[in-house]
Amino acid sequence: MPPLVVETIDGMRASIAARRGLGAVGLVPTMGALHAGHARLVEQARHECPTVVVSIFVNPLQFDRADDLTRYPRPFDADLALCAKLDVDVVFAPTPAVMYPQPPDCTVHAGRTAEHLCGAFRSGHFDGVATVVLKLLNVVQPDVAYFGEKDAQQLAVIRRTVSDLNVPVLITGVPTVREPDGLALSSRNQHLGAAERALAPRLFRALNAVRDAVAAGITDPAAARSRAADIIGTDAPLRLEYLELVDPVTFQPVERVAGPVVAAAALWVGSTRLIDNVLCTPPRFGT
Ligand code: PAJ
Repeated sequence: MPPLVVETIDGMRASIAARRGLGAVGLVPTMGALHAGHARLVEQARHECPTVVVSIFVNPLQFDRADDLTRYPRPFDADLALCAKLDVDVVFAPTPAVMYPQPPDCTVHAGRTAEHLCGAFRSGHFDGVATVVLKLLNVVQPDVAYFGEKDAQQLAVIRRTVSDLNVPVLITGVPTVREPDGLALSSRNQHLGAAERALAPRLFRALNAVRDAVAAGITDPAAARSRAADIIGTDAPLRLEYLELVDPVTFQPVERVAGPVVAAAALWVGSTRLIDNVLCTPPRFGT
């Protein structure tokens, strides 16, 4: 059965009210242009929850560049077809006017978790993410909400928001889905030209080099980072925006590796910005 498509907040609440008696409601928030990474989240929700809601909303509040918002893909019919295939119950697809009937005066400030990495380069981005996610949680009131580990800092910000603001929802992180060559699936990959696409897997290879260095006992982040820089190289379309080793919960950069850390990076490939991360475990923590 195709999913019920709901565009209004009252409609969303009504459609879910009737289903609450069935058991847990799972929400997968997305901005559409759905791919196998999103599908993995939906599959896990489908496995765990009698009711699955997918939200599709390109949230203007989290874009720091107007051109990025304008060129964000919006293939709604294909998204709906994938949701039907994945047996989604309800697709919540509000317009910006429904989500923001007036410019929001009261928003979430994401705090220290959002200070570094993407937060340092994309002004206001995580405030916009935390605000829209809190709104979606308030509208749908799910028992469980699913987010990808691909956007590890986003996941950490959302965990912290939900914890600090006592939102009654379980946040579940889902592992990153990758192309066979390691490139993490992303809606932005479709902007890559053929030559750029061929270079893009260096991001994951570089992060793996950091993981190997940490596993081999390297504790100095700068030493681990230089291994990555060697792999990224200096080919013209590639520009490493950041590569940091951070605490997996607080997302503060570590001065020395003394436990598990997340190596997270952003790489510009031409005019496309890719992000990825891997968990790195020093030797005495390994199995
Ligand atoms: P979007 O980029 O559409 O991603 C929706 C969800 O899919 C996020 O939780 C993201 O981490 C996850 N995801 C994306 N690519 C993935 C991959 N390759 N493997 C596993 N999961 C993947 O992230 C957003 O939208 C927005 O910021 C949102 C949370 C919806 C708020 O607007």
